[in-house]
Amino acid sequence: MTIDPHIVEWLSLTTRWIHFIVGVAWIGASFYFNWLEGHLERDGEKPPGVAGDIWSVHGGGFYHAMKYELAPPKLPETLHWFKWEAYSTWLSGVTLMIFVYYLNPSVYMVDPAVRDMPGYAAVLIGVGSMVLGWVVYDRLCKSALAKNPLVLSAVGYVLLIALTWGLTQLLSGRAAFIHVGAVLGTIMVANVAHVIIPNQRKLVAALSAGEAPDPALGKQGLLRSRHNNYITLPVLFLMISNHYPSSFSHQHSWLILAALVLIGVGVRHYFNLRHKGKPGIWMLIVAAAGMAAVAWFSMPPRAELTQSAEVSDDIAFSIVQQHCVSCHASAPTDAVFTSAPSGMVLESLDDMRRYAAQIRARAVDTHSMPLGNTTAMTPEERATLGAWIAALGNP
Ligand code: HEC
Repeated sequence: MTIDPHIVEWLSLTTRWIHFIVGVAWIGASFYFNWLEGHLERDGEKPPGVAGDIWSVHGGGFYHAMKYELAPPKLPETLHWFKWEAYSTWLSGVTLMIFVYYLNPSVYMVDPAVRDMPGYAAVLIGVGSMVLGWVVYDRLCKSALAKNPLVLSAVGYVLLIALTWGLTQLLSGRAAFIHVGAVLGTIMVANVAHVIIPNQRKLVAALSAGEAPDPALGKQGLLRSRHNNYITLPVLFLMISNHYPSSFSHQHSWLILAALVLIGVGVRHYFNLRHKGKPGIWMLIVAAAGMAAVAWFSMPPRAELTQSAEVSDDIAFSIVQQHCVSCHASAPTDAVFTSAPSGMVLESLDDMRRYAAQIRARAVDTHSMPLGNTTAMTPEERATLGAWIAALGNP
């Protein structure tokens, strides 16, 4: 299927904007309710059946929220559910995935240096991982493991890293990372759609019928909500990971992802405890040290410059002309990119000198450019370009 790249860009822009907006609404509401739960005042005189309450002021008004131990004696006529935020985040996310990745798998998903495969195979792997991820996770939560939430989380974490490792052996680094994010996002939304909301509906139905609700329903819902709570920050990193090739295009990118997931979970845990009045600032310090350690670990080795002879401007220029300018031009000839990616034009020697440090980072020290190595740049050409940049002085 070929759609005009300019149209695809605007479909992608619009969808990404929507995805961001509804995502903020979802995660924002979820953060708010976690905050509320943690800050409830549970001591002191409360109306019958009330577990805790809280006063707050916002936008010039005073709010008084109460949490019931189980439910109010009489259910209110209007009850707000908070589910469309989650559903629309998933729907817009999948649509964005189609516009960015599935319409152009050969650009963003297949990296011949990782594994060469037809575009449709890469799409199948991506979609398959989302379906499989949910099925396996859901089974685990329904298994005997669920009795021990910590062991369950540890098993889930190991499986996630295994999936990450597998995807990084098959797809481009960027596609592997975004798909791990999509697997986690799908699990979060499916938790809302298949467990949390249906269980709440059964709870409300039982209460309306004057029956005692099954306590197992609440327990299952709580387990899934807990998981969603801890998965949130790792997912948010994965959604922005595409901006950071030093994470996804590293040789051991799966280890980097594994570390960042732990850091995200740790930071979330800090906030969970802080809401309950038990701040453990050391967790943030460990997280910051962890970020520094990952930054150090991911540092690409400066490519060995085997080229001893001086590289002429002409040679460097012709390499960039051959491998970069189909995209990085004011009027690209590439079939997918109709404007210079990241606004970076590499049409003259001056342009090349200006962006020397970036070129070195993406085409010499790492091989994250040319994108998907569509122009088949050789290691020798990278080394030659590196030698030319080195001769410019430390850019
Ligand atoms: C098939 C199209 C394509 C080709 C060919 C290509 N690039 Fe890119 N380049 C992109 C896209 C798309 C982005 C933005 C997305 C990203 O950062 O990965 C980008 C981003 C970059 C960036 C990051 C710019 C910034 O400020 O974030 C650098 C540096 C870069 N390219 C250098 C190169 C060099 C050097 C070559 C040739 C050796 C090259 N590119 C070839 C598509 C291409």
